[in-house]
Amino acid sequence: MKLFQIRLMTISMGMLLVFSFSTIIQAQTAGVWNIPAKYKPMKNPVSKSKESVANGKDLYAKHCKSCHGTAGLGDGPKAASLDVTCSDFSSKKFQALADGEIFFQMSEGKGKMPSFKKLIPEDNDRWGLIHYLRTMAAK
Ligand code: HEC
Repeated sequence: MKLFQIRLMTISMGMLLVFSFSTIIQAQTAGVWNIPAKYKPMKNPVSKSKESVANGKDLYAKHCKSCHGTAGLGDGPKAASLDVTCSDFSSKKFQALADGEIFFQMSEGKGKMPSFKKLIPEDNDRWGLIHYLRTMAAK
């Protein structure tokens, strides 16, 4: 019986350790993206048009607004319950990213940011959505 209790304690302490480490690692890497080099020079295959921006706006309302907020400031209703910030699409820092880098981020996701490869399965819908994100730049 004693041996069983010791084993149980060792297991639960081990689990606690793993849990706290993963929390630390997640906090440290929030905001840091490892984007493979091939994405930066990629050219957006969808051109900016009334249609692509309108389609992007619809997709944004359906898939992104809950966290990123109406104007992309990262203040959507779901954002408050996350332990990381949802970025600010109006910022210079965000707008300085290349289309290909943003395409990678929304396709693959990271941590609390979902991967949209399957949720928005057409590559061109994800590329087109970037044109809508560009309209959020601070003026
Ligand atoms: C469940 C909440 C949630 C949803 C829904 C969501 N995101 Fe995010 N997004 C995040 C979080 C949190 C981050 C920051 C992740 C990090 O840095 O670890 C993020 C980061 C990003 C980034 C990187 C920004 C930067 O400054 O580098 C892009 C691009 C992005 N999201 C696009 C989108 C798009 C486009 C959609 C909709 C198709 C979307 N997100 C939906 C939570 C969300």
